[in-house]
Amino acid sequence: MNNLLKDIEEILLMGPGPSCVHPKVYEALSSKTLGHLDPHFIKIMDEIKELLKKLLNTKNNLTLPLSGTGSAGMEACLVNLIEPKDEVLILINGVFGKRMQEVATRLGAKVDTLEFEWGTPIQPELVREKLIDSSYKVVAAVHAETSTGVRNPIEKIADFFKDSESFFLVDAVTSLGGMEVKVDEWNIDALYSGSQKCLSCPPGLAPSSFSDRAFDSIMNRKTKVPNWYLDMSLIGQYWQQERKRVYHHTAPINMLYALYQALVMFFEEGPENVFKRHMECYEMLKSELNNMGLKMFVQEPYQLPMLNAVAIPEGVDEAKVRKILRSDYKIEIGAGLGPLAGKIWRIGLMGHTARKNNVETFINALKEVL
Ligand SMILES: Cc1ncc(COP(=O)(O)O)c(C=O)c1O
Repeated sequence: MNNLLKDIEEILLMGPGPSCVHPKVYEALSSKTLGHLDPHFIKIMDEIKELLKKLLNTKNNLTLPLSGTGSAGMEACLVNLIEPKDEVLILINGVFGKRMQEVATRLGAKVDTLEFEWGTPIQPELVREKLIDSSYKVVAAVHAETSTGVRNPIEKIADFFKDSESFFLVDAVTSLGGMEVKVDEWNIDALYSGSQKCLSCPPGLAPSSFSDRAFDSIMNRKTKVPNWYLDMSLIGQYWQQERKRVYHHTAPINMLYALYQALVMFFEEGPENVFKRHMECYEMLKSELNNMGLKMFVQEPYQLPMLNAVAIPEGVDEAKVRKILRSDYKIEIGAGLGPLAGKIWRIGLMGHTARKNNVETFINALKEVL
């Protein structure tokens, strides 16, 4: 039998995720599998929780990696906080805001939206107006909108939730590990992320965090959480240090080793240095693209360092360029989604991918292909 794994090539992952995985993270994945209630594994779980709290700048006790990709984190936040007929506001300026709208609608919430043109940021002033005299149970927004390359001003919207009854829910799938995320300071009640972006693990875990207030509300729901697998009141019993751990589902042990290793490396390098490395690579990429006459799709102050949306130059077959980059240069970049399909390329500089030599390799390849 021809084992397809032996033909896997080393690809420079410069798309919207997954990003390149550090060799030490691959090594961690192949550590020996332990039982999900093994005392040594429990030590690793406790440490992962502490490192995630530090990364998220939060004291939230219910901070843990959920089993599943970023969308499982999204579903977990919404399914736990929403009950049928609850009023929910979703701030939308791309695919992932739309996805939250879809999930919340399926849960029977009364979903209201505030939409902004794709490629532009959420405008805090309009959010403030929308919140006057409103009684939303949940207000949700995406920090780094991967579909457009826009950085949403979460820290500004955060002020509206200081003494609010509403729960502020934030998608930090692409931002976490590449730029500052401050859960407590930004009054965030529920947050989810993904392992495969700036944390540079393979896909499969969704680091998530719930405030005490959000957890209280989950524990006092009128109806049971309709999704058993993502019920935080049950998952919490397996992850809470102070309680006796109760089996819920078999944790993806080796993926958790990978996340642990990635977090250790993040703090060894130091958050400031990691964020600086992302910024420097982004500046270098932008300036090289500019020299080639290529234009960024998003305006300067709202550009994400880890996901660069680049306008496709006139007359260029964008799919052909991506195809040649993948086949001849072993580089992956992303296409535009939805209304931006055919209009932009999405160039990721996430986690371990965010290195100047990768920017150089990519620019040289793009020059030749164009
Ligand atoms: C901002 C954002 N939210 C949610 C998701 C969904 O995550 P996943 O594809 O890991 O399920 C993604 C994935 O790209 C994302 O970029």
